[in-house]
Amino acid sequence: MAASDKIDSRLKNVYDNPGDKQALFDDWAATYDQDLVDDLGYVADAEACRLFMSLVTDRQARILDAGCGTGLVGQRLKQAGYTNIHGNDYSEKMLDQARATDAYQSLEQHDLTLPVVSDRPFDAAISVGVFAFSVPSAEHLVNITRSLKPGGIAIVTVNGKAWKDRWSPANA
Ligand SMILES: C[S@@+](CC[C@H](N)C(=O)[O-])C[C@H]1O[C@@H](n2cnc3c(N)ncnc32)[C@H](O)[C@@H]1O
Repeated sequence: MAASDKIDSRLKNVYDNPGDKQALFDDWAATYDQDLVDDLGYVADAEACRLFMSLVTDRQARILDAGCGTGLVGQRLKQAGYTNIHGNDYSEKMLDQARATDAYQSLEQHDLTLPVVSDRPFDAAISVGVFAFSVPSAEHLVNITRSLKPGGIAIVTVNGKAWKDRWSPANA
């Protein structure tokens, strides 16, 4: 089987699986970066971070990386000089990978269909590759925005095909 076949079927699995994908991401954690970045040319993290950095210029800002996965976003932000980055994800195995990057001040297991629990609000949030075909979905965006200070900035990507098929107001 070609590498692209393997990856495509893995992505299809994520997209098609409407239920709890936690086990699927646990299984994917060890090879996620290689599959997605090296083989498939994933650029969502780079694009979102570029926009984030143009809007959040304070390198000491307290940042939530919601659905941080293996820590691609945290690594980019750390490299750019941000020093107060907090990640969450519901896959413990993804969090293990993120922990190994040393980019985060804290990491915790959390399901983004539920309100974010934090002792104080964040200045800004970023969430890349998390909002797509199933949950978390549009109604769960408030769980990110409510974790922010008033006026806080949230950058959230939505999968392009999911946007066309499910999210777009044209489908309402
Ligand atoms: C495609 S990965 C993106 C990871 C990372 N943000 C990136 O850009 O590489 C999607 C991530 O969302 C997490 N995730 C999916 N559903 C979630 C939920 N309901 N709550 C928290 N994390 C979730 C998965 O465990 C996975 O790490």
